[in-house]
Formats: sequence, structure tokens, C-alpha cells
Amino acid sequence: MRGIRHLFVSAVLRAAASGSTIMPSLAVELIARSSGWVAGTLLQRNAFGVERRCRGFMRSHRWRTSGLQLDRGVQIECPGNLQLGENVTLFGGTHLVAGRSGQIAVGDHTHIGRNCVISGLGGITIGGGCSISSLVSIYSVSNHYHHDPQLPIVDNGVHYGPVQIGNDVWIGTGAAILPGVTIGDHAVVGAGAVVNRDVPPWMVVVGVPARILKDRRESQRPSSLLPASHDKATHRRSA
Ligand SMILES: CC(C)(COP(=O)(O)OP(=O)(O)OC[C@H]1O[C@@H](n2cnc3c(N)ncnc32)[C@H](O)[C@@H]1OP(=O)(O)O)[C@@H](O)C(=O)NCCC(=O)NCCS
Repeated sequence: MRGIRHLFVSAVLRAAASGSTIMPSLAVELIARSSGWVAGTLLQRNAFGVERRCRGFMRSHRWRTSGLQLDRGVQIECPGNLQLGENVTLFGGTHLVAGRSGQIAVGDHTHIGRNCVISGLGGITIGGGCSISSLVSIYSVSNHYHHDPQLPIVDNGVHYGPVQIGNDVWIGTGAAILPGVTIGDHAVVGAGAVVNRDVPPWMVVVGVPARILKDRRESQRPSSLLPASHDKATHRRSA
């Protein structure tokens, strides 16, 4: 409904600016908004097509995702099942698979680094203000290898486990988050960790499988040691 209202408002403004009637302006708006989607649909047999489709979709839904920074090479499957907050950044090469029946939700001010795989077939929620470094994998689906050992893996089916990642979480490069895991607010996952159990809020976990290394609150630096211009947003961009 908001989309249709937005379309009409833009058309009315366009008509007022050009001194024409509303119908030609409405047609121009419709063509402009659907062109990205149509081009992507025609090219969707390859990855570039998926990207184009996604870009067209994002453009036509830009009022829902203000501040979105979408790098080249980001691939999104089933963008209709993807919810993005405000000021989200998706770096190049990252692949978000929401799936027809899955779902991925990303909170405000979260950024997802290069070449990550976020497989949301079982549902993935990532909170706000999170920093997901490059090469991180988050899976909410897994092969069901023990259903019938006589059958090939590919015929054994899959099982789903929703993944929940809280707010203000930092996931180091190369970490893998496995199905069914919940990571609490303010937690840190070390580079290369394999997280197969829940991580309580504020904990720093490292290793394979991931174990608690420390409590973030206990390793707090005195604020006098922070740079004078310390600003969370600047800090995030440099990660
Ligand atoms: C987890 C992390 C934040 C911990 O940093 P830290 O609090 O400064 O911890 P330290 O470096 O003092 O290490 C403490 C111990 O944990 C170990 N450790 C640290 N990071 C580890 C990791 N990723 N995997 C396994 N062990 C790790 C250290 O070897 C050390 O062990 P020791 O006491 O036996 O020598 C950091 O090591 C890390 O992995 N950062 C991710 C960096 C990254 O991905 N950057 C990408 C751009 S954002």
C-alpha cells in the first residue's frame, strides 16, 4: 500500500513540475521503477542477473531501506523474504539466500563484510549495530546425514535451525555460525571460530568448537585510553 501511495505522490510531483497531466507522469514512474526488475528477470540465469534483479527490487523498494549501501557483486535470492533495517551495508561478493520459505532480517546500522554466505532457509535474524567481517558463514540449514546412512547424502534431506544474532555483535573473519545457534547482545566471535552452541550476551568466544574466552565487560579499557574522536560509526566503517 505504501508503495502505491509513494508511486502516486511521485507522479503527482512530476506532473506538477512538468505542467502535464497525471497519466503520462504515472506511466513514466511505472516504467522507471519496474525497469531494474524487468532487466534482472530477463538476465536471471546467471549471478549477474540475480544481482540486477536484486538491485531493481531494492531500487523499487528504496523507501523501506533508507541508507542501504549495496556493493557490486552482492547476490540475494528471494529478496521478498529479506528485511533490511536502516543504513545497512552489504559488501561485495556476499550472498544472502532467503529462500522461498526462509527469512533473513538484518537490523539497523549493521554491516556485512565481503564474501559472506548467509543461508536463511531456516530463518536468520541479525540485530542492529552488528559487524560481520568478511568470509563469515551463517547457516540455518544443514544436511541430515544420519536419517538413512544407506542413502546418498543428497537424498537424506535437510534440517533447519533458526539462527538469532543479537544487537552490537562482532563476528570475526572466517567464522562459521551453525544452525540453531543464538548469539547474545554485545558478544564477540573470534576469527575462524565454529559456533555450534549458544553464546551468552557479552561473551567473547574463540576456537573450534567455540569456547568462552572472556567476558567483554571485564576487559573494558578506561575511557581515557580511547581516542578523543572515538565514534562508533567511524569505527564500524574502518572494520
Ligand atoms: C577474539 C579476539 C577479538 C580476541 O582479541 P583479544 O581480546 O585481544 O584476545 P588476545 O589476543 O589477548 O588473545 C587471548 C587468547 O585467545 C587466543 N585467541 C585470540 N583470538 C583467537 C582466535 N580467533 N581463535 C583462537 N584463539 C584466539 C589467543 O591466542 C590468546 O590465547 P593465549 O592466552 O593462550 O595466548 C581476536 O583475537 C579476534 O579473533 N579478532 C577478529 C579480527 C577480525 O576478524 N578482524 C576482521 C576485521 S573486523
